[in-house]
Amino acid sequence: MKEVKIESTLYVYEAMEELPKEAVSLMHKAFEARDKAYAPYSNFNVGAAILLDNGEVITGNNQENASYPSGLCAERTAIYYAGSQYPEAKVVRMAISASSKNKPTLSPIPPCGACRQAIAEYEVKQASPIEIYFMGKSGKIAKSESLANLLPLVFDKSVL
Ligand code: THU
Repeated sequence: MKEVKIESTLYVYEAMEELPKEAVSLMHKAFEARDKAYAPYSNFNVGAAILLDNGEVITGNNQENASYPSGLCAERTAIYYAGSQYPEAKVVRMAISASSKNKPTLSPIPPCGACRQAIAEYEVKQASPIEIYFMGKSGKIAKSESLANLLPLVFDKSVL
Protein backbone atom coordinates (compact mmCIF):
# COMPACT_ATOMS: atom_id res chain seq x y z
CA MET A 1 0.00 0.00 0.00
CA LYS A 2 1.21 3.48 -0.70
CA GLU A 3 -0.22 6.85 0.00
CA VAL A 4 -1.10 9.02 -2.99
CA LYS A 5 -1.37 12.75 -2.45
CA ILE A 6 -3.41 14.85 -4.82
CA GLU A 7 -2.49 18.48 -5.23
CA SER A 8 -4.48 21.27 -6.77
CA THR A 9 -3.67 24.91 -7.40
CA LEU A 10 -6.02 27.89 -7.18
CA TYR A 11 -5.28 31.58 -7.44
CA VAL A 12 -7.15 33.98 -5.18
CA TYR A 13 -7.73 37.63 -6.05
CA GLU A 14 -8.64 40.01 -3.25
CA ALA A 15 -11.26 41.92 -5.23
CA MET A 16 -12.58 42.65 -8.72
CA GLU A 17 -10.01 45.43 -9.13
CA GLU A 18 -7.26 42.81 -9.11
CA LEU A 19 -8.73 40.66 -11.88
CA PRO A 20 -7.39 40.73 -15.44
CA LYS A 21 -9.72 42.85 -17.52
CA GLU A 22 -10.97 39.99 -19.72
CA ALA A 23 -12.16 38.29 -16.53
CA VAL A 24 -13.82 41.45 -15.21
CA SER A 25 -16.08 41.80 -18.24
CA LEU A 26 -17.03 38.12 -18.14
CA MET A 27 -17.74 38.30 -14.41
CA HIS A 28 -20.03 41.27 -15.00
CA LYS A 29 -21.98 39.10 -17.45
CA ALA A 30 -22.20 36.45 -14.72
CA PHE A 31 -23.56 39.09 -12.29
CA GLU A 32 -26.27 40.05 -14.79
CA ALA A 33 -27.22 36.41 -15.32
CA ARG A 34 -27.16 35.74 -11.57
CA ASP A 35 -29.62 38.54 -10.91
CA LYS A 36 -32.07 36.96 -13.37
CA ALA A 37 -31.92 33.46 -11.84
CA TYR A 38 -35.17 31.69 -11.07
CA ALA A 39 -34.51 30.47 -7.54
CA PRO A 40 -37.71 30.89 -5.49
CA TYR A 41 -37.04 27.78 -3.38
CA SER A 42 -33.43 28.22 -2.31
CA ASN A 43 -33.18 32.01 -2.67
CA PHE A 44 -29.67 31.22 -3.87
CA ASN A 45 -28.94 32.86 -7.20
CA VAL A 46 -26.09 31.71 -9.40
CA GLY A 47 -24.94 33.18 -12.71
CA ALA A 48 -22.41 31.77 -15.14
CA ALA A 49 -20.86 33.41 -18.19
CA ILE A 50 -18.84 31.52 -20.76
CA LEU A 51 -16.44 32.93 -23.35
CA LEU A 52 -16.06 30.78 -26.46
CA ASP A 53 -13.09 30.87 -28.80
CA ASN A 54 -15.34 32.30 -31.53
CA GLY A 55 -15.90 35.38 -29.36
CA GLU A 56 -19.45 34.49 -28.31
CA VAL A 57 -20.42 34.96 -24.67
CA ILE A 58 -23.08 32.59 -23.35
CA THR A 59 -24.72 33.11 -19.98
CA GLY A 60 -26.95 31.00 -17.80
CA ASN A 61 -28.44 30.96 -14.34
CA ASN A 62 -30.04 28.43 -12.06
CA GLN A 63 -33.59 27.42 -12.91
CA GLU A 64 -35.45 25.83 -10.03
CA ASN A 65 -38.57 23.70 -10.06
CA ALA A 66 -41.29 22.76 -7.56
CA SER A 67 -40.04 19.25 -8.15
CA TYR A 68 -36.61 20.16 -6.78
CA PRO A 69 -34.38 17.71 -8.69
CA SER A 70 -35.85 18.94 -11.97
CA GLY A 71 -34.07 22.26 -11.55
CA LEU A 72 -30.69 22.96 -13.11
CA CYS A 73 -27.59 24.83 -11.98
CA ALA A 74 -26.34 27.96 -13.70
CA GLU A 75 -23.12 26.39 -14.97
CA ARG A 76 -24.87 23.51 -16.69
CA THR A 77 -27.59 25.75 -18.10
CA ALA A 78 -24.84 27.85 -19.69
CA ILE A 79 -22.49 25.13 -20.86
CA TYR A 80 -25.23 22.94 -22.34
CA TYR A 81 -26.57 25.91 -24.23
CA ALA A 82 -23.06 26.70 -25.50
CA GLY A 83 -22.55 23.06 -26.50
CA SER A 84 -25.90 22.91 -28.27
CA GLN A 85 -25.52 26.18 -30.18
CA TYR A 86 -21.79 26.11 -30.94
CA PRO A 87 -20.74 22.46 -31.01
CA GLU A 88 -17.44 23.27 -32.75
CA ALA A 89 -16.38 26.08 -30.43
CA LYS A 90 -14.01 25.70 -27.52
CA VAL A 91 -14.77 27.10 -24.09
CA VAL A 92 -12.01 29.51 -23.13
CA ARG A 93 -13.19 30.70 -19.76
CA MET A 94 -16.13 30.60 -17.36
CA ALA A 95 -17.03 33.15 -14.68
CA ILE A 96 -19.43 32.24 -11.86
CA SER A 97 -21.04 34.34 -9.15
CA ALA A 98 -23.50 33.33 -6.44
CA SER A 99 -25.62 35.41 -4.09
CA SER A 100 -28.13 34.49 -1.44
CA LYS A 101 -31.15 36.28 -0.03
CA ASN A 102 -30.54 34.45 3.25
CA LYS A 103 -26.94 35.35 4.03
CA PRO A 104 -23.95 37.21 2.64
CA THR A 105 -21.81 35.37 0.08
CA LEU A 106 -18.44 37.02 0.48
CA SER A 107 -16.07 34.15 -0.24
CA PRO A 108 -15.57 32.25 -3.50
CA ILE A 109 -18.37 29.75 -4.12
CA PRO A 110 -17.19 26.86 -6.29
CA PRO A 111 -19.34 24.96 -8.81
CA CYS A 112 -21.07 21.88 -7.41
CA GLY A 113 -19.79 18.40 -8.17
CA ALA A 114 -22.35 17.72 -10.89
CA CYS A 115 -21.41 20.93 -12.68
CA ARG A 116 -17.71 20.09 -12.41
CA GLN A 117 -18.43 16.76 -14.07
CA ALA A 118 -20.41 18.50 -16.83
CA ILE A 119 -17.68 21.08 -17.44
CA ALA A 120 -15.06 18.31 -17.44
CA GLU A 121 -16.82 16.69 -20.38
CA TYR A 122 -16.19 19.78 -22.52
CA GLU A 123 -12.61 20.21 -21.32
CA VAL A 124 -11.86 16.62 -22.32
CA LYS A 125 -13.76 17.00 -25.61
CA GLN A 126 -11.87 20.12 -26.65
CA ALA A 127 -8.52 18.94 -25.26
CA SER A 128 -7.68 22.36 -23.88
CA PRO A 129 -8.14 23.82 -20.40
CA ILE A 130 -11.18 25.80 -19.35
CA GLU A 131 -10.25 28.65 -17.04
CA ILE A 132 -12.76 29.12 -14.22
CA TYR A 133 -13.27 32.19 -12.04
CA PHE A 134 -15.72 31.88 -9.16
CA MET A 135 -16.92 34.15 -6.41
CA GLY A 136 -19.82 35.02 -4.14
CA LYS A 137 -21.69 38.27 -4.60
CA SER A 138 -18.57 40.27 -3.81
CA GLY A 139 -15.20 39.83 -2.13
CA LYS A 140 -12.46 37.42 -3.10
CA ILE A 141 -12.42 35.66 -6.44
CA ALA A 142 -10.80 32.28 -7.01
CA LYS A 143 -9.36 31.17 -10.32
CA SER A 144 -8.65 27.66 -11.46
CA GLU A 145 -6.57 27.42 -14.61
CA SER A 146 -8.47 24.33 -15.62
CA LEU A 147 -11.49 22.29 -14.57
CA ALA A 148 -9.14 19.41 -13.82
CA ASN A 149 -7.90 21.28 -10.74
CA LEU A 150 -11.42 21.26 -9.34
CA LEU A 151 -12.12 17.61 -10.09
CA PRO A 152 -9.22 15.31 -9.39
CA LEU A 153 -9.79 11.67 -10.39
CA VAL A 154 -12.22 12.75 -13.07
CA PHE A 155 -14.44 10.10 -14.63
CA ASP A 156 -14.17 10.55 -18.38
CA LYS A 157 -14.48 8.75 -21.70
CA SER A 158 -11.02 7.20 -21.40
CA VAL A 159 -12.45 4.46 -19.18
CA LEU A 160 -15.41 3.60 -21.43
N1 THU B 1 -26.53 25.98 -7.85
C1 THU B 1 -25.96 26.40 -9.02
O1 THU B 1 -26.61 27.03 -9.86
N2 THU B 1 -24.67 26.08 -9.23
C2 THU B 1 -23.88 25.38 -8.37
O2 THU B 1 -22.77 25.04 -8.71
C3 THU B 1 -24.38 25.08 -7.03
C4 THU B 1 -25.83 25.24 -6.82
C5 THU B 1 -27.94 26.29 -7.61
C6 THU B 1 -28.84 25.07 -7.60
C7 THU B 1 -29.97 25.55 -6.76
O3 THU B 1 -30.90 26.24 -7.59
C8 THU B 1 -29.35 26.54 -5.80
O4 THU B 1 -28.10 26.88 -6.38
C9 THU B 1 -29.12 25.99 -4.40
O5 THU B 1 -28.44 24.80 -4.42
